[in-house]
Amino acid sequence: MRTQVGIVGAGPAGLLLSHLLHLHGISSVVLEAHTRDYVEHRVRAGVLEQGTVNILREAGLGARLDAEGMRHEGIELRFDGEGHRVPMAELTGRAITVYGQQEVVKDLVARRLADGADIRFEVSNVRLDGLTGDEPTIRFHHDGKEQELICDVIAGCDGFHGISRPTVPAGELTVYEREYPFAWLGILAEARPAVDELIYCLHHNGFALYSMRSEHVSRLYLQVPTDEDIGDWPDDRIWEELATRFRLTGSDWRPTEGPIFDKGVTPMRSFVTEPMQYGRLLLAGDAVHIVPPTGAKGLNLAVNDVWIMSRALDAWFNGRDDGPLRSYTRDALQRVWRAQHFSWWMTSMLHRFGDDPYQHRLQIAQLRNVVDSPAYATALSENYVG
Ligand code: APR
Ligand code: PHB
Repeated sequence: MRTQVGIVGAGPAGLLLSHLLHLHGISSVVLEAHTRDYVEHRVRAGVLEQGTVNILREAGLGARLDAEGMRHEGIELRFDGEGHRVPMAELTGRAITVYGQQEVVKDLVARRLADGADIRFEVSNVRLDGLTGDEPTIRFHHDGKEQELICDVIAGCDGFHGISRPTVPAGELTVYEREYPFAWLGILAEARPAVDELIYCLHHNGFALYSMRSEHVSRLYLQVPTDEDIGDWPDDRIWEELATRFRLTGSDWRPTEGPIFDKGVTPMRSFVTEPMQYGRLLLAGDAVHIVPPTGAKGLNLAVNDVWIMSRALDAWFNGRDDGPLRSYTRDALQRVWRAQHFSWWMTSMLHRFGDDPYQHRLQIAQLRNVVDSPAYATALSENYVG
């Protein structure tokens, strides 16, 4: 088998890349370890920057997004029992759209299959060879037999636990990383959101986030210790703790409760490897960088990477210009590091770090600055909307 671009991973990065390449007349094959059902139902974040929405729309993927996505023009920061709205659209002229990542994935899979794409689900034992030559090759197991895919370029879009990044010889990549001493417990509930916009909340007990998926589904998170056993969090305890953290002084306001149908713990990590390419292997999305979810940047960064990569591959295959391909790492990393900083900053400002009362006071001072100073609020908004 031969293709121009062999893509490992059918997450948002791999699927969108395959679609953008198709629009440029470049062939690809996508290899995915899991089933279609699994990738379409994996619950992840749900905030799309304006730039991400624009890219999806321009690529012809805007129909359901425009019908079902919820445009939000602000967020609330809640601390010391008070809520403060940050009017992002007023400050920046841009907004975000709340639309689940798995909905983006469903739209991409449907569109790619309608366009006749070659997506192989449930492949195993994927190995990359010949990355420094002209014919990099992917070997894998599928349909009960060993297969070989000869490519011009391989795109490693296989997430943090994929095989692409570890295939690069030790010493070629530099790793930058930070782990945080906490995780998020996330739930999806059949409950009409009690708010119109997201709430990022700092409480003595820790961080809480109020988000949503639709008019009928709420998405909520609580900061918990990293080794937290989800069995220790029956539904009643989750709702009580959410009510405690979101409490407003002098008010009996609390989140709307409803049946919880999904519950999970997400670790928090910051991670970048450089460069984002090695020979004929190009890396994108979670395969090369991870951000803690507090800035809602993970999906947006993946989209930005593959958008830059698709243009570089267009220049190379169709324009015989290898300049953009050579500068892929440099071009993508600007956004990557800006989002790393923003995600680290939001995380540091909004989580409880141990029992240090001085740290808590500093966090409140920082939050006060953001809500009282239009300059700070604008800086936060510019980064948040992208
Ligand atoms: N072979 C084939 N596929 C693999 C392999 C492998 N060895 N290892 C992993 N995969 C697949 C995974 O099953 C997954 O479907 O690669 C895909 C990677 O998808 P994501 O983890 O969603 O990563 P990415 O497409 O970069 O999207 C980044 O995901 O984690 C969120 O916050 C993050 O929103 C961001 C987005
Ligand atoms: C979500 O809706 O899942 C979500 C929203 C904002 C974040 C993270 C996750 O910062």
